[in-house]
Amino acid sequence: MLSNRASNISPSITLGISAKVKELKSKGQAIINLSIGEPDFLTPDKVKAEGIRAIKENITKYDAASGSLKVKEAVCQKLKRENGLDYTPDQIVVSNGAKHAITNGLLATINPGDEVLIPVPYWVSYPEMVGLVGGVPVLVQTKKENGFKVTLEDIEPHLNEKTKMIILTNPSNPTGNVFSREELENLCTNLVEKNILILADEIYEKVIYDEEFVSIASLSEEIYDKTILINGLSKSASMTGWRMGYSATNKTLAKAIGSIQSHLTTHPSTITMAASVVALNDCEEDVNLMVKTYKERRDYIESFFKDWGRLDIIPPKGAFYVFIDIGPLAEKIKADSLSLQVCDDMIELHKTAFVPGIGFGQDDFIRLSYAASMEDIKEGLKRFKTYVENVLED
Ligand SMILES: Cc1ncc(COP(=O)(O)O)c(C=O)c1O
Repeated sequence: MLSNRASNISPSITLGISAKVKELKSKGQAIINLSIGEPDFLTPDKVKAEGIRAIKENITKYDAASGSLKVKEAVCQKLKRENGLDYTPDQIVVSNGAKHAITNGLLATINPGDEVLIPVPYWVSYPEMVGLVGGVPVLVQTKKENGFKVTLEDIEPHLNEKTKMIILTNPSNPTGNVFSREELENLCTNLVEKNILILADEIYEKVIYDEEFVSIASLSEEIYDKTILINGLSKSASMTGWRMGYSATNKTLAKAIGSIQSHLTTHPSTITMAASVVALNDCEEDVNLMVKTYKERRDYIESFFKDWGRLDIIPPKGAFYVFIDIGPLAEKIKADSLSLQVCDDMIELHKTAFVPGIGFGQDDFIRLSYAASMEDIKEGLKRFKTYVENVLED
């Protein structure tokens, strides 16, 4: 009954963990959830008010399939103001979240058999998305000593005439690392010379602490032309449930992406698009406050691991994740998947949820999300420390 496509797909491991946490909570268990991939802040009030206004004023009918002109203009203004990028509305397609924008971008560019480079550790959905559109995900292992930032050296053995695209995530989910301008320039200039497209997932752009954020398309004209810039409001404006993402590309690609979207979903909800105009133009203060709070949590977690001194982490520079090296536990825990076992133990024995690194292709790590209260972070880390000390002393 199922297509090959459907038979080959695996469910999202992160959503699976959320379901398990919900199930345990519904049985009355108090779970500390450090596995969540969404901001623990509310959507800003003025964004919500604009959504309500849109409903009241009957902005509830079809609009242009690639998104309302107003929201595409607001995206262009944002890209100019914050990233120094020149785009016109006919280069923007507004979609139902960044996930949808990425899938549209892949559908518009990938032929069956085309290879797409995906640096490991990767965000869970990329390999599945590439497979769904008939492409071949080529997993490129990166090195812990580089903070898992992919380099040309990592990529070179995988290049061949079928290589069509690379997916770069900056800041990274799951590692929280951020590329420098120099690293991006070196990498992207070389890739584009080899005629490789870049899908630049910049959804965590705003959640960044001490580093400068560099949008890949701003590096050069050649790179701009070959980049599918992906961004959205799920993380930056705490709008995960509204479903607002977008792509910015050259005009040929934008036209193709718009046509694809026109047959699949038309546009995101008109209410979301209206509210997004406010989120794009007028939410700097709210975003700054969120980032300040994330930074306090990040600082606490960094010093916790430093003081403890037992396990390494990738120094977190952006997004709201910490990637923890559980490699030292491998001698004591014999399991098919180390990270799954550790996460299972943590949830069963210590009522604390993390995401196993195996979901990101990196089984000797687990991911902690600090989109959680400081109180939960402190208690969750305390429990994790107890668990690790017990395992190592066994
Ligand atoms: C790297 C990355 N890209 C894209 C997305 C999807 O964002 P959206 O909810 O806007 O579809 C996520 C969500 O977790 C993500 O972590």
